[in-house]
Amino acid sequence: MSKIDFKDKVVIITGAGGGLGRYYSLEFAKLGAKVVVNDLGGALDGQGGSSKAADVVVDEIKKNGGVAAADYNNVLDGDKIVETAVRNFGTVHVVINNAGILRDSSIKKMTEKDFKLVLDVHLNGAYAVTKAAWPYFQKQKYGRIVNTSSPAGLYGNFGQTNYSAAKSGLIGFAETLAKEGAKYNIKANTIAPLARSRMTESILPPPILEKLGAEKVAPLVLYLASAQDELTGKTFEVAAGFYAQIRWERSGGIIVKPDETFTAELVAKKFNEILDFDDSNKPELLKNQHPEMLNDYTSLTAAARELGPNDLSGAPT
Ligand code: NAI
Repeated sequence: MSKIDFKDKVVIITGAGGGLGRYYSLEFAKLGAKVVVNDLGGALDGQGGSSKAADVVVDEIKKNGGVAAADYNNVLDGDKIVETAVRNFGTVHVVINNAGILRDSSIKKMTEKDFKLVLDVHLNGAYAVTKAAWPYFQKQKYGRIVNTSSPAGLYGNFGQTNYSAAKSGLIGFAETLAKEGAKYNIKANTIAPLARSRMTESILPPPILEKLGAEKVAPLVLYLASAQDELTGKTFEVAAGFYAQIRWERSGGIIVKPDETFTAELVAKKFNEILDFDDSNKPELLKNQHPEMLNDYTSLTAAARELGPNDLSGAPT
């Protein structure tokens, strides 16, 4: 197997002034990347800002003989972050959407501001940076995106409706980017990590934190950033040395024939069959509808056709 390196590659890492992003930056630089260290240097809840966070990491990279530029923009200004990459290094090849904040509270106490702000930083921020990088990716026929989801985005977590919604949104975002990017050699994948950082330091006990070093997450991010072949649109869980892929599983389901009566009672009667995973499948494409369903219902087939191509050949731009 050939060695993975990022020589001549320009890598933007958002939220790279601390925690996971800082560690990724140092590792990418060690492997030859020109790194844009983005961080607005705010508090865990997103308040405030300082250029110091990004500067310290850039200095560290340079001291190690690496190449890096600092960027202090909010991820919502993705175009400015990409501009920093282009101004310093001519283009961008890899985007690691990593910046994040927390504003936890139960739905009962959640404010609209806290809900929207968390969606803004995680989801809309990832959109803004990716959107600005996309034309460079398309033109050079090379682009790699790694989104950062969370176990809370996969399974939910008390007090984190805002965070969970943003984090699961990033999975769908990457799944579609993978399809749109396929013919341009643009690959998008997602990680759901658990790691020691200021996000977890006050929540998890020290013996567990000790096991959650960023050095155990970074190898997967580096690998995904160099993704080849069919490695796109996938989601991975990673923590404490555990690496695994997450995917959708659909129960075998039921087909209700057009001549049957469509009622809630019918669903109730067949509910155990709907929940039965004995004959399950693992769909990856929107058009992987139940074959019988598409055969039986011409209207559904037509609707599926209207949706256009949904396979890895990518849709026309
Ligand atoms: P962290 O708080 O150390 O790092 C996040 C960085 O993002 C901070 O340096 C912060 O200044 C920066 N940031 C926040 N808002 C920004 C904005 N609008 N624009 C630019 N930069 C901004 O936390 P950590 O743990 O390193 O988190 C990295 C990513 O991993 C986040 O997306 C987080 O949600 C995710 N994650 C972390 C987990 C963990 O166990 N640490 C668990 C699951 C997901």
